[in-house]
Amino acid sequence: MTIRLHINVDHVATIRNARGTIYPDPSFAAAVCERAGADGITAHLREDRRHISDADVEKLRAQITTFFNLEMAPTEEMLQVALRIRPDTVTLVPERREERTTEGGLDALRGGAALGLLCRRLVEAGIRLSLFIAPDDAQIEASRDLGATQIELHTGEYCSAQGTQRPEQLSLLRHAAQRANARGLEVAAGHGLTRHNAVEVAAIAAIAEVNIGHAIISDAIFGGLDAAVRDMRAALERGIGMR
Ligand code: PXP
Repeated sequence: MTIRLHINVDHVATIRNARGTIYPDPSFAAAVCERAGADGITAHLREDRRHISDADVEKLRAQITTFFNLEMAPTEEMLQVALRIRPDTVTLVPERREERTTEGGLDALRGGAALGLLCRRLVEAGIRLSLFIAPDDAQIEASRDLGATQIELHTGEYCSAQGTQRPEQLSLLRHAAQRANARGLEVAAGHGLTRHNAVEVAAIAAIAEVNIGHAIISDAIFGGLDAAVRDMRAALERGIGMR
């Protein structure tokens, strides 16, 4: 049994937007990730468009050859985007404008009629539904009731846990993944995963997919910095040759 690796390209857009340039392009990053063996690409279209833009989402949809997971808040505006773009999966995440990144799981239990209706409209449109939730039994049951095919377990608490809390958090994830599987749900996991802490998560047999962004883009800086300096030196040398 394997585990699907989906790569979140939001952070490429963050670097681009810091300068208002057209590079680096998250779609180009997606193509590199796919070529390197990623099973899918994830992007979060936030309500404030702080990284991924509407145009990015369109380009990603047109270009991705593996699997496109669109993360979004459960709002009417985002629903309209999803119905138009038709990603392979929509992952519903909670969103607060002032947060630096997604902080908690979605409250599938107390989302009320509005969340129920939004989930139904996605499912009826034939879009696979995933809910990003904390590893909690009641949230798993509620996700199933909302028609989700998949849950994505929030691994943030596990990733930031220290000492004895770490195995405790891991055991919560394991229990939740097994329970969700037993209830017929596919299980993904994500948030804060690195090549160090992802090992124990991948060891949980009930987890079929991980969504990882920040750590991979961070590692890519050091994987590529040496070559980038050398490329710049070569460009300057070409200039000097034209003096
Ligand atoms: N999964 C979800 C639902 C997320 O919101 C995020 C962050 O955008 C991730 C996974 C990826 O988290 P990270 O960038 O910390 O790997």
